[in-house]
Amino acid sequence: MRRRRPLVVIFLIFSISIFLVAFYRWPRYFPQSRERKTSNRKSVSRRKTLAGRTSFLSHCCDSTADGLSSVTDAIDSAVWQSSFPHAIIIGVKKGGTRALLSMLGLHPQIRSAPKEIHFFDRDEEFRKGIDHYIAQMPKRKRNQVVVEKTPSYIIGPSVPKRMKETLPLSTKFIVLFREPIERAISDYMQTLSSPVSNGTAVQTFASKVITANDCQSRQARCVDSDAYLIQLGQYARWMQEWLAYYNRSHFLFLSSEELTLNPVGVLNQVETFLGVKPFFQGKMFYFNELKGFYCHRLRRKREKSQESDGCLGRSKGRHHIKVDPDVVNMLQNYFAPWNRLLYSLIDKTFNWNYTKES
Ligand code: A3P
Repeated sequence: MRRRRPLVVIFLIFSISIFLVAFYRWPRYFPQSRERKTSNRKSVSRRKTLAGRTSFLSHCCDSTADGLSSVTDAIDSAVWQSSFPHAIIIGVKKGGTRALLSMLGLHPQIRSAPKEIHFFDRDEEFRKGIDHYIAQMPKRKRNQVVVEKTPSYIIGPSVPKRMKETLPLSTKFIVLFREPIERAISDYMQTLSSPVSNGTAVQTFASKVITANDCQSRQARCVDSDAYLIQLGQYARWMQEWLAYYNRSHFLFLSSEELTLNPVGVLNQVETFLGVKPFFQGKMFYFNELKGFYCHRLRRKREKSQESDGCLGRSKGRHHIKVDPDVVNMLQNYFAPWNRLLYSLIDKTFNWNYTKES
């Protein structure tokens, strides 16, 4: 028996070694070990994400890093998930909606949808169902909010009704209003630069917005109310529709002109409206003389629409044509009552005065 003891010990050591090798080498035969490995991997990748965020925060904006430590803690314990958007930028077209969304996307608590979704204003999209809509939203962590923008939502006849019936009641809406004449010219410039208009004779701005009938009087009635460029600027008309479904507390009304001149002021208003931590500061942006707009200096993964200088691409901030002062005058008279109606509907006034006359 004594002689056999070393053999038993050797056999035991051999078996334990085989077991240990098998345990680590072939985890699929040991489900618990697999869970442990996966959770290790997850925590390593979470730590990496957190490290990435922390280093982003520390090099881009030292003074905010402290304030955001609780944000990063929460991010650490969260998992990526799909959800409805918390806020939707519903308009207006050429109001600076891309600039606003891409700046918002720099906030660590805000996830922005990369493209316009057009779910509620296009029947063929809407018919695909709400799951199709949610699937197009960026994934978010528990303490993050999701924002999408589709500027044509504001004029979509069925959009407020569809949203009321489909989205959570807590959904918030952001509207960027731009002085309507300037908006129309911006929209016109976009048409000029579109590939469809290349090489074809393009109508002048005046002929697009003024009716041919009896316009010697040069009055507001000469303005073509049915023209697309004009209808979009009848903001009160669209807001009346929306306010029939949602009360004012659902909306944040912003000025496109203020976004251009003071982006941080506007971004701070949006932070408060969305209930996220204050993040944006003046030092994160600089005025780019070449571009003629504010651009950001945060080192962050850029959107396709952004250049390496933190500015938006060439399709944003185009040169505008000069418009005949008579036409401007007619448009001013035309839009004045619409603007007054808007101010009373939204309980906010914009200091609009189109002055770029030739
Ligand atoms: P223009 O190209 O006529 O100057 P949208 O994204 O809704 O289409 O709006 C485009 C408009 O955003 C631009 O119109 C520009 O005036 C405005 N804008 C506001 N802030 C901007 C920024 N930082 N960079 C570029 N464009 C900006």
